[in-house]
Amino acid sequence: MNYDIKDKTILVTGANRGIGKAIVESFIEHGATKVYAAVRQINSVSSLVEQYGLRVVPIQVDLADPQSIAAAAQTAPDVQIVVNNAGVFQAGTPLAENAIAALEFQMKINVYGLIYMAQAFAPVLKANGGGVFAQINSVASLKGFPDSATYCASKAAAYSITQALRELLSEQGTLVLSVHPGLPKSILLLRSKVSPTLLLTVPQKLRPIQSPRHYENY
Ligand SMILES: NC(=O)c1ccc[n+]([C@@H]2O[C@H](COP(=O)([O-])OP(=O)(O)OC[C@H]3O[C@@H](n4cnc5c(N)ncnc54)[C@H](OP(=O)(O)O)[C@@H]3O)[C@@H](O)[C@H]2O)c1
Repeated sequence: MNYDIKDKTILVTGANRGIGKAIVESFIEHGATKVYAAVRQINSVSSLVEQYGLRVVPIQVDLADPQSIAAAAQTAPDVQIVVNNAGVFQAGTPLAENAIAALEFQMKINVYGLIYMAQAFAPVLKANGGGVFAQINSVASLKGFPDSATYCASKAAAYSITQALRELLSEQGTLVLSVHPGLPKSILLLRSKVSPTLLLTVPQKLRPIQSPRHYENY
């Protein structure tokens, strides 16, 4: 499926690092007019602003804060494509002592955050002709892994919500995409018991293995 992003105005959550940053760079390089880099800390995208100038517009969004999402929709009324990429990961089995707390945390960001994003930006996309709402889900939306069961549950729930949005928003001409990246070959993964046969190939640019912090998160 092709959707030309040339001359489009796009908003990407979690734009400051990892997959989100790679998406911003790729969109700009492929001719997007403007990308709203939606992040918790505005100064976390200063390198992108330095690199791309006015084509990258930082905007404050915390997926745990519905008011910040509603405010972003007001600040960015020209958005034609939304990529909800931001997400959190906590390793842990359902038998772990903190399993419920971990699930609650990941549901709050990965699922409730998605719902708030869709509620806030569906009218904006509609007003701009339909556009695209892309949700970064995961292979973990489709296949559960014991060591990251609560993350998988949150991503499965996000995929379920995405499927509902796909049907609902088609009525206003918005294309809803569910993106399912595979797992990177990170240190953590190599230590884990995830079968390598379950790994899907992702483009080199989308392998966000960049910092020790990343290894902590994944
Ligand atoms: N990497 C993978 O192997 C992989 C595989 C499948 C799916 N995914 C999915 O791809 C997406 C991006 O993953 P990644 O590997 O690039 O992750 P990452 O490097 O850990 O980056 C996560 C991003 O989400 C942001 N974020 C976290 N909590 C947030 C909140 N409450 N509000 C707004 N932004 C928040 C982070 O911002 P801060 O810098 O402020 O923390 C950061 O920009 C996630 O949805 C993840 O589930 C990743």
